[in-house]
Amino acid sequence: MVSFDSLTESLRSGRPVSDHRFDKLYPPEVRVHSKVHFTPVKVALRVRDWIGLDPGLRVLDVGSGCGKFCLVMAASGGGRVTGIEQRPFLHEAAVGAAEKLGVTVRFLCGRMEELDWREFNVFYFFNPFYERIAYRRGIDDRTPPHAGIFFDHLRVVKDKLDGVKSGARVFTYHGMGGRLRSDWNLIRSEPIGTDELQMWVKA
Ligand SMILES: C[S@@+](CC[C@H](N)C(=O)[O-])C[C@H]1O[C@@H](n2cnc3c(N)ncnc32)[C@H](O)[C@@H]1O
Repeated sequence: MVSFDSLTESLRSGRPVSDHRFDKLYPPEVRVHSKVHFTPVKVALRVRDWIGLDPGLRVLDVGSGCGKFCLVMAASGGGRVTGIEQRPFLHEAAVGAAEKLGVTVRFLCGRMEELDWREFNVFYFFNPFYERIAYRRGIDDRTPPHAGIFFDHLRVVKDKLDGVKSGARVFTYHGMGGRLRSDWNLIRSEPIGTDELQMWVKA
């Protein structure tokens, strides 16, 4: 069996890791989607730079895919990391990759609508509902385009974020599909990867 110890060690010590190297954690049918659908390692490491190593961090990746963002966050720092993903094959890939890396992430297989978000203070969105309004094919046929569902999901997100504590942070990469409500302030943004990373803080 291939050892991923040196990969884990690189992430722990903040050394750059290529996506090509990281994606070897995944089977080919997952890896093939990485470039378009999953967070580049350097974007996750930038989030880590911005939020630091506070053990009180409770991070939620909304639509965690194969867990790339969560795994880099968990391997590189403090706090606890949770990812929720609706597609079982991606959830399983995330669990398998966590085992290979030897890091702890709470990966949940389910829908973000059904989770209580109030225990978290950091939220990450890589435009998770985009497939619902995309003109090109998504990861598979599970979530066909449907603008109504897209806007329903956005409303659910905003309502859930109404319930979280002041000082909570939202990170977006490629946006989240709409604007946050007015009590969220954009604090920082930076071009990175194929778009921009933004950090919003709840007043
Ligand atoms: C663009 S991918 C990002 C994956 C991961 N966050 C990352 O950055 O590597 C968006 C993911 O959100 C998931 N997703 C979309 N709607 C969801 C929902 N309602 N509940 C849970 N997952 C959802 C999709 O299945 C997809 O895997």
